[in-house]
Amino acid sequence: MPNPKIILAGATGDLGRRIARELTRLDATVIGLARKTSQTGGPRPTANDVHHVVVDYDDQASLEALCAGASCVVSALSGVRDVIVDMQSTLLNAAVRAGIPRFIPSDFAADFTTLPPGRNRNFDLRREFRERLDAAPIRATSILNGMFTELLVEDAPFVLPRIRRVLYFGSPDQPMDFTTKDNVAQFTARAALDDDAPRWLRISGHRCSARDLADAATRAFGQPFRLLRGGSANTLTAAATAVRLLAPGRSATFPVWQGMQYMRDMYDGRGLLEPLDNNRYDQIDWTTVEHVLSKGTQG
Ligand SMILES: NC(=O)c1ccc[n+]([C@@H]2O[C@H](COP(=O)([O-])OP(=O)(O)OC[C@H]3O[C@@H](n4cnc5c(N)ncnc54)[C@H](OP(=O)(O)O)[C@@H]3O)[C@@H](O)[C@H]2O)c1
Repeated sequence: MPNPKIILAGATGDLGRRIARELTRLDATVIGLARKTSQTGGPRPTANDVHHVVVDYDDQASLEALCAGASCVVSALSGVRDVIVDMQSTLLNAAVRAGIPRFIPSDFAADFTTLPPGRNRNFDLRREFRERLDAAPIRATSILNGMFTELLVEDAPFVLPRIRRVLYFGSPDQPMDFTTKDNVAQFTARAALDDDAPRWLRISGHRCSARDLADAATRAFGQPFRLLRGGSANTLTAAATAVRLLAPGRSATFPVWQGMQYMRDMYDGRGLLEPLDNNRYDQIDWTTVEHVLSKGTQG
């Protein structure tokens, strides 16, 4: 279909803007939904021509009208229950009523499909929305990508440059999945235009262990990085439970205890992505952890 119309919720966000850029590169017509009360500063001028529309998510009729004729809804919304379950359900209802054939939810995480409930708050919310999505008359595709690689130079305490250590729990040889935001956006845009995309697509820009992270950090920083054992993966479970009691931060999307739950699900291997779909689309150059760490050292 020439210039397929894609509805992009969360188009003002970090990942959303990258997906929008990729979709326009692929000649899609992008309708980016933005809120009047944007927390991210709202639509910003971009080098591409995304049609930003300010929407009221409570106004089902206008949301449905906006969706008419689109081939896919992509959600890059971020938040807790009111967003991941409630807001995405509003969007899903509008998409179904408008007859849109496909929906990509804002999953973008490690593999939560096999994890038992109650382990990871953000994964539980995604599972809850998944039940609604799978019950709806629309074809869904979820992208699972492990951790955004950029978090290694932001706030995820894996690589600790000040003490030149890589903090690990359990085994230093446990493989984990890291994918950059741009790679996730490139893959998601292609999936949005792929009418044959399956229910689940799993990607890993760079699969590596704590030991591999130490080697990558040694090369990136030009100084030796060693491993630092924090305990077993269960240590993180106990720490997350304690921190959650002391500082619940229920309305925060990524409170400290949620980061600990995420790290635990990576270090105990339960979030590992199998099988991988990295080769489903051409022209994606997967960025290594070392590349991201090197860029991080340049400020
Ligand atoms: N795997 C990982 O390591 C990792 C790391 C970070 C994020 N993620 C995931 O990636 C996805 C996108 O995250 P991001 O970092 O791009 O988020 P972000 O930069 O915070 O952007 C969030 C987007 O959601 C919108 N939004 C937030 N609350 C809303 C609400 N109540 N109603 C309507 N829109 C709302 C924002 O719109 P406004 O401009 O209107 O506020 C914005 O467009 C999420 O699923 C997130 O969990 C994954």
